Amino acid sequence: MDVVHSVGSFRQALEGFRADGATVGLVPTMGALHAGHESLMIRAAAECDVVAVTIFVNPLQFGDPCDLDHYPRTLADDLERCASLGVGVVFAPSVTEMYPDWPEPPSTRVSVRAEAAHWEGASRPGHFEGVATVVAKLFSIAGRSRAYFGEKDFQQLAVVRRMAADLGFPIEVVGCPTVRDLDGLALSSRNARLSADERRAATVLWRALETARVAVASGERRPAAVEALIASVVAGEPTVSLDYGAVVDADDLSVPALLDGHRPLRLIIAADVGPVRLIDNARVEVALRGTPRQLASGLVGAASGR
Ligand code: PAF
Repeated sequence: MDVVHSVGSFRQALEGFRADGATVGLVPTMGALHAGHESLMIRAAAECDVVAVTIFVNPLQFGDPCDLDHYPRTLADDLERCASLGVGVVFAPSVTEMYPDWPEPPSTRVSVRAEAAHWEGASRPGHFEGVATVVAKLFSIAGRSRAYFGEKDFQQLAVVRRMAADLGFPIEVVGCPTVRDLDGLALSSRNARLSADERRAATVLWRALETARVAVASGERRPAAVEALIASVVAGEPTVSLDYGAVVDADDLSVPALLDGHRPLRLIIAADVGPVRLIDNARVEVALRGTPRQLASGLVGAASGR
C-alpha cells in the first residue's frame, strides 16, 4: 500500500492505476476509522479494481474550534486498517497541502443551496460549505472514479450528490448503509468521546427513530406528530438534548405536508449527548392500504392517519 501526502503524488498514483486499465474506488474519510469506514472500503473493493482512501481532518467543516481540536486522530491505526483491507493507496495530506494559505480559508469555496439549507446546515453554519469544498477538491484530484459515502451522514450524501452532479465530476457517488452496534447506536468516530453513561444514553437516537418508523408504518401520516413522537422518546433521556428529529423527503430533505407514500421518506435526528453531537437517520415506509390493483393504479394512498 502506498501512503502519499501531496496532491501531485495522489493524482499521479490514480492516473497510473487508470492507465493500467484499473477502475478506482475512492473512500474520503477524516480518519479515526471504524467498521463503518471498513464497510465502505469493502464495498469499494468489491466494485472497483483499486481502493484509494483519503484521510484528512478538514478544518473548513468545523465551526467550533473545540470540536476540531477534540476530533480523534489515529493515523497509525488507520493505516494498519487500510493495509489489512488491501487498500491500494492512502492520501493523508497536511492542512497546508490542501489549503496553502491556511489559516486563511481558500478563496474559492463550494456552496450547495437547497440540500444544505436546513437541519445540519442550519445548526452548523458553514459546515456543508466546508464539506462540499473539500470533497470537490478531492474529486478534482482523484478524477474518474466511484466515490463511497456512508448513509449515516444522510444530508452530507445529498449535498455531495448534488455538488458532483451540478459541477459535472466524472464520479459516481455511491451511498452505503449505516453500520450499527448491537444496541442500534450508529458507528461514528465521535462515539469514542462518549463516557460509559453517555454511550448508553446515546442509544435513544436509534430508539426514537425506530418508534417513529413503526408509527409511520402503522399509519401515522402527520409529520408534526412524528416529530412530537421523536421528541417524547428523547425526553426520556434527560442527559440528551434534541436538536431536531423529523420525517423528510429523502431526496431534498424538505418536510412533506402529508406522508402520502408518493415520495421516498427518511427519518432524521440530531442531538447533543453530553459534549458530543450525534446524528442518525433511518428509512421509513408509509403503510399503504388497498388491493394490489388499486395500489398500482394510484387510486388509493397511505393508510389513514391517527
Ligand atoms: O464524512 C466525512 O468523514 C467527511 O465529512 C468527509 C466527507 C470526508 C469530508 O471531509
